Amino acid sequence: MCGIIGYIGSKKASSVMLDSLRKLEYRGYDSVGMAVFDKELRARKGIGRVDLVNDRLDFQELKGNVGIAHTRWATHGGVTDDNSHPHFDCTGKVVIVHNGIIENFLELKDQLKRLGHGFKSDTDSEVVAHLIEKYLDLGNTFYDSVIKSVGELKGSFALLALYAGEPDKIIAVRKDSPLVIGVGEGENFIASDVPAFLKHSRKAVFLKNHDVAVITKDAISIYNLETCREEVKQIQRIDWNVEQAEKTGFPHFMLKEIFEQPTTLRQALNQNMQKLNNTLREIKQARRVYFIAAGTSYHASMIGKQLLARKGIGSECVIASEYKNIINMVDDDTVVVAISQSGETADLIEAVRESKKNGAKVFSIINGPGSTLTRISDDTIYIYAGPEIGVASTKAFTGQLAVLYLMAMPELKDELITLSNKLEEMLKKEGLIRRIAEKIRNANDVYFLGKGLNYPTALEAALKLKEISYIHAEGMPAGELKHGTLALIEKGVPVMVFAPKNEFFHETISGAQEVKARGGYLIGFGDEKHEVFDEFLKVPKTLPELYPLIFTIIFQLLSYYTSILRGNNPDFPRNLAKSVTVK
Ligand code: M6R
Repeated sequence: MCGIIGYIGSKKASSVMLDSLRKLEYRGYDSVGMAVFDKELRARKGIGRVDLVNDRLDFQELKGNVGIAHTRWATHGGVTDDNSHPHFDCTGKVVIVHNGIIENFLELKDQLKRLGHGFKSDTDSEVVAHLIEKYLDLGNTFYDSVIKSVGELKGSFALLALYAGEPDKIIAVRKDSPLVIGVGEGENFIASDVPAFLKHSRKAVFLKNHDVAVITKDAISIYNLETCREEVKQIQRIDWNVEQAEKTGFPHFMLKEIFEQPTTLRQALNQNMQKLNNTLREIKQARRVYFIAAGTSYHASMIGKQLLARKGIGSECVIASEYKNIINMVDDDTVVVAISQSGETADLIEAVRESKKNGAKVFSIINGPGSTLTRISDDTIYIYAGPEIGVASTKAFTGQLAVLYLMAMPELKDELITLSNKLEEMLKKEGLIRRIAEKIRNANDVYFLGKGLNYPTALEAALKLKEISYIHAEGMPAGELKHGTLALIEKGVPVMVFAPKNEFFHETISGAQEVKARGGYLIGFGDEKHEVFDEFLKVPKTLPELYPLIFTIIFQLLSYYTSILRGNNPDFPRNLAKSVTVK
């Protein structure tokens, strides 16, 4: 996945876009670049994070009031200066930025090479600039050249193109990768995500699949690629504020987002109960229920499954990229619950589309307003967490849990609201959690154990630690250790145990005893200390079902501080990007 931004107006495009690139950096940070029109197209690009590249290349030396820019997460072609976007045609008069994957680029590249086009990069994206050049050479307008070029592409793309022959417009095309227009006064923006232009405009037009937009400083026209008809623009007001997309004094977005959770939990609980009841009724009536999600959202779905089971409702959790294994079970008597922070995860979008083709009813639990999943689902329940920018998902997880609890167990609503105070209490234990991070900072492996609802909690804890600290971690049911993994426990290996005083307490402690007997270093989290633990962090008492929410604060802070102590930047974990919009 990559982040793209285009600006057209009367401000200096490079300054506007530099700021936007910083906001989009969560989408990829292998390289960055921009092109502006200033009598001719001029570009600068290079590998590294936005600010580092800017220190070297000083983007703001580029003058001009129209431009396109890109921050890259490499998929096709290594991380090199040449593979950085933007990409030009042979004449230097056409320039593009692209997010997505052009699946047939090799074939197109061969054809274009045979026509005499020279390529500078190994990317799939560069073919688009040359295709547009090919059609311009045949006498087409810029718009027609883009349309004809896109007609030759297979795969997914959010594309922005500029042409020196018609520099009063940016042309944008969307297929399976997100694009949203920021509507301004005498200026317009087009970006992969809202935070890129939130500072300038809260009026947004989300492009739909197969939309092509012609954006000038005073006008926006949107056409459908398939029907060639002009579409009616639907302007949505974004109720995020600028601060939500800023660090507001926190050193990292991740820490800020962890600390926002008492508030975002309350926001997530502010649901239309009638709508949740209707969703639950549809779930109950369906013959089969599948939760489908990826990563952190998948772990939330595992908790959802257990909550439904407590109410006697059967469901299954399916990792989005594995949906093909169950798709022949999906029919018009199936309900799919798709869970996603971004609403743009490619594997999940495909799973939902295929489920819908088979007649399933799809409900989605989403954070990203206007995202693809919200448009292809039958109904969407928003978690209202505001923009989540840290690559490691935090407040979206607790928001997703809040909705799942509320849907499956509406009777817990008051206790859930009170829980936001307990999360505040946990956040005050930041110093204690940091001390635990000091103990594990040099570990090679860390294990998290939990039972029942705290098993998915353990899985999410391990994912969080892995992705930002780069320490190998595993989460597992406390009772499963003895079936194999115990062989890995030796003196001093840290094992963290989520052990609230609930129906599983004794079995959880048994698992901990097994670790103790092998010399593991046991760190326990719960509301009542047990002597088996070498260290113990006491948490406030709550209802047995609700401990995952409390433990979440612990492992998020623990992962954050471990990452910091190991000298990493938790907002930008290596090799990762925030939402995975490619398969
Ligand atoms: O936007 P989504 O919730 O669909 O994203 C799913 C995963 O890519 C995401 O949760 C990922 O695992 C996070 N980096 C975890 O922190």
